[in-house]
Amino acid sequence: MEKKIILSGIQATGELTLGNYLGSLNNWVKMQEEYDCYYMIADLHTLTIRNNPEDLRKNTLKLIALYVACGLDPEKNTIFIQSHVPAHTRLSWVLNCYTYMGELNRMTQFKDKAAKHADNINSGLFTYPVLMAADILIYNADLVPVGDDQKQHLEITRDIAERFNSLYGETFKIPEPYIGKVGARIMGLQNPTSKMSKSAQDPMDKILLTDTPDDIRKKLKKAVTDSENSVRFDRENKPGVSNLMSIYGILKNKDMKEIEKEFEGKGYGLFKSVVAEAIIERLEVIQKKYNELLENPEKLKAIYEKGDKKANEKANQLLKEVYKKVGLIVEE
Ligand code: TYM
Repeated sequence: MEKKIILSGIQATGELTLGNYLGSLNNWVKMQEEYDCYYMIADLHTLTIRNNPEDLRKNTLKLIALYVACGLDPEKNTIFIQSHVPAHTRLSWVLNCYTYMGELNRMTQFKDKAAKHADNINSGLFTYPVLMAADILIYNADLVPVGDDQKQHLEITRDIAERFNSLYGETFKIPEPYIGKVGARIMGLQNPTSKMSKSAQDPMDKILLTDTPDDIRKKLKKAVTDSENSVRFDRENKPGVSNLMSIYGILKNKDMKEIEKEFEGKGYGLFKSVVAEAIIERLEVIQKKYNELLENPEKLKAIYEKGDKKANEKANQLLKEVYKKVGLIVEE
């Protein structure tokens, strides 16, 4: 039987957080045996905010290194750069013509980003979800592993695909989101009612995958909890502690009941230090591999060139079909 197809990606906007890792990469690694996986660097999506061009190029390579350092095997996965596969933007144009302004206006990420970058509400930011739909649909992806914040983008992808299929006949597979039960939404350490975000102003709110053990211990010590001093899972009333429990649970493969038992009668001081050590243990392995890979740009290039080639071959097939269906002249 043919393997099911997976596609996902991350923007190349600087340092990733523990939220990115637990919400996406950590799940991707688990999927590489069972699925035919396409993992891209979403460099075109990164253009929707202002970047230093040299930094964007560096961040793109760094992200490839990070994918591999987190455990994605380049032999088993197609790791590629979005801008190296022109079929994405070509399909995106077509899909733009089948997406309504009203639908895009409802996207909460657009509203959030427009508020954050009020001086640069460009139309790329507005049509961002259409390019994302093209990324997914062009591979006939069955599953899209993402964090909870991308759910709405998956819904609009499905709507666009269904609309196109109903007009032109079965063309796109309707993809399903894959959102892990825990870790889908890792919250900020200082502000545990909003998600941990790369762009958070307060460095104490986020753990970066490149943080040193000392940084991590400090950040955990300062993490916001509550006055109960009891390790109990209750997202509503104890968002800080529940967030730390989720992080610990994923890293150590423990459920919330087990964690409650482990820390019964023990205070937050001990709990936080155990969580810090679990994070350090995981990140140390990743950082070691990451630093080795960064010293070998030729190897990184070979990885994405191989991925680009395979992605182009696959993506061009469906693009041709779509072009034909909408009435463009396609040379065989
Ligand atoms: P991006 O780069 O913002 O985030 C990458 C992944 O990390 C997840 N994530 C989180 N998960 C849990 N807790 C958090 N605090 C947290 N913060 C971020 C995101 O949900 C995402 O899975 N639009 C996408 C990139 C993209 C894409 C695609 C994804 C472009 N094309 C096609 C899937 C399929 C984005 O901006 O992710």
